[in-house]
This record gives sequence, structure tokens and C-alpha cells, in this order.
Amino acid sequence: MNFEVIGTGHYAPENVVTNDDLAKFLDTSDEWISTRVGVRERRVCTTETTAELAYRASKNALEMAGTNPEELDLILCATISADDASPSLACNLQKLLGAECPAMDLNAACSGFIYMLETAAGFFARGTAKKVLVVGAERMSRLLNWNDRSTCVIFGDGAGAMVLSAGSSYLASKIYAKGNTDVIRIPHPQGMSPFYKNESEEPFVLMNGQETFKFAVNAMTKDVQEVIEKAGLTQEDIAYVIPHQANLRIIDSAKRKLSIPPERFCSNIERYGNTSAASIPILVDELNRDGKFKDNDKLVLCSFGGGLSSAACVLEWKCR
Ligand code: UT7
Repeated sequence: MNFEVIGTGHYAPENVVTNDDLAKFLDTSDEWISTRVGVRERRVCTTETTAELAYRASKNALEMAGTNPEELDLILCATISADDASPSLACNLQKLLGAECPAMDLNAACSGFIYMLETAAGFFARGTAKKVLVVGAERMSRLLNWNDRSTCVIFGDGAGAMVLSAGSSYLASKIYAKGNTDVIRIPHPQGMSPFYKNESEEPFVLMNGQETFKFAVNAMTKDVQEVIEKAGLTQEDIAYVIPHQANLRIIDSAKRKLSIPPERFCSNIERYGNTSAASIPILVDELNRDGKFKDNDKLVLCSFGGGLSSAACVLEWKCR
């Protein structure tokens, strides 16, 4: 026993920032960003908190699931940009929802959402949860150095959510991590202890883009092949691949290495940029609301990011 998805939702702040908007204060261009990354615009918070993004995405998912917050047995949030170190984003979200159940966060960077699906599967397997809310929510804009054109043009803010109930849709999965601090890092401030001697670094995204790119293509190709095999399927059986939205060229490279028909790879990076742990549930919700999924469609979700981490799973979609 694991789970099936009974509702999806997403929310992104209203403020749209185009590449031309960025070119007003950065040495960059729409041409560079759209051809090198695939992003044309992203949403950036002006007043919204990460918890508010998570709340609006969750409300949409709960409404689709016909589920009241009081029915939830567990709230799981994947994030690297929670509003507070404590309470967790999940507890902040719980307060807004008015739910009463265990609630916790997980940091596996951009792979966090699939890590949380894996976590949820464990609770269903033990029979300790009947309805679980899983959320990926990020306010990446507060973790960016807005003077660094090599990182700030890539990311965006948003949240996506799924409501899960007991079922058998989670056919196969893989979660992976390889401790590495050289490729992507977001330092925390060192605080104000008069006893601590290490110097503070700026608390913004540091990324070696090309090394991340190589890791991403290799991880995505390998993980997708592995989970399809584990599920006893072939690449031809896959209706859609829903990859983490980090760079359109990463998705294109993986497409060339896999034998899944290229039109089955989905993307919305053009409109949102990289929303880290939120990118997969945002895309799933858009496709779901567009009526793209048929009953029993096999979907592959796959992700990679800081850690370095990667994750993938096969979901059998159930139309309700
Ligand atoms: O979800 C987290 C995971 N993160 C990722 O998956 C990111 C993976 N990496 C990437 O997406 C790409 O490596 C980047 C988009 C970050 C960079 O693209 P690239 O093709 O690897 O560019 P590059 O770093 O090799 O830079 C090429 C040139 C450089 O100029 P020179 O040295 O050739 O003169 C950069 O200074 O592009 C320059 N550049 C820019 N130019 C205009 C870098 N950023 C910009 C920019 N606008 N925003």
C-alpha cells in the first residue's frame, strides 16, 4: 500500500518579472536568458511569505480533493526558503489552514518534493496516515544576490501541492544524495556569537553552473531509466516526463539520451523560472487542470539540485 494523488494545486505571486525587467539593472538580455536557460519571465514575491504561497497552493489542492484541512493526518513541506528557522514552513502552513496533525519540513533542495513523496509513502505503508498534504514552496527571491547575473536570472517564486490518499499509484522511486559543497551552496549567516571565529558569507545562492548542468543531465538520465525499470515498464510506456524546471537545455540533453518520445517531456520554465522544490508540483497541477492526464497514465517525475541530490519516481495517474 502506498498512495494515489486525489488533488493538485499551485500558486505563484502576481508580480511578473520579465527578462527585459532584469536587463534594466543587470548586464543581461532577453536573448541570453531565453536561449541559455529557457526562461522568459518569473514570478517574484513583493509582500507574500513562503507560507502564504504554500497556503494558496494547498487550498487549491484540498478543494480539488474535496478534503477539509481537519481531515489531514500529516503535512509535509519541501523547501529551502521557509520564512522562519522555527516554526517550520509546515507548521506555519498548518496554522493558516487550521489543521491539526503532525507537520514537518524537509530540505533536499530542488529534489525535495520527490523526497517528500517518498516520505509520505512510508507513512501510508505503515498505515499511520490516510490523507497527506505534500507541498513544495519556495521564495527563492530572498536567497538570490540580485547583482549576480549568473544566478538571479534563473530562479522564481511559487508553490505546488498534492493531496494524497491511500492507494497504489507510487510504482517505483529512487532518492539519491552525494555530499558536495563546491557545486551549489547557500550559506546561512553565522549569527552574532562573540565566540564563533569563522567569517560570515553572504547568504545567497553560489552555483557552479556548468558542474551543476553536468550532474543534472547524468542524474536525470540515470534516475529516469532506473525507476522505469524498477516499475517493470519500458520507456515507451511513459505518458509524460515531468522534470524539475532548472534549464530547458538540461531537459533537451536528457531527451536526447533517453528513448522516450521527446514530445512527452513537459515544461513551463518559460513562465516561472526555476522554483526549486515547487517546480514539479506546479507543473503537475497545470497539466492536470489542462486535462492532459488519462486514467492509468504512467508519469515519471525527476529532479536534481543542491546536495548534490537527485530523485525520480513513477506515478500511475488516477482520474477522479
Ligand atoms: O535547480 C538548481 C540546479 N541548477 C541548475 O540546474 C543550473 C544548471 N546550470 C545552468 O543552467 C547553466 O550553467 C547557467 C544558465 C547557470 C549558465 O549557462 P552557461 O551556458 O553554462 O553559461 P556560462 O556560465 O558558461 O557563461 C557563459 C557566458 C559568460 O561570459 P564569458 O565568460 O563567456 O564572456 C558569462 O559571464 O555568459 C555570461 N553570462 C551571462 N551573460 C548574459 C552569465 N550569465 C549571464 C547573463 N546574461 N545572465
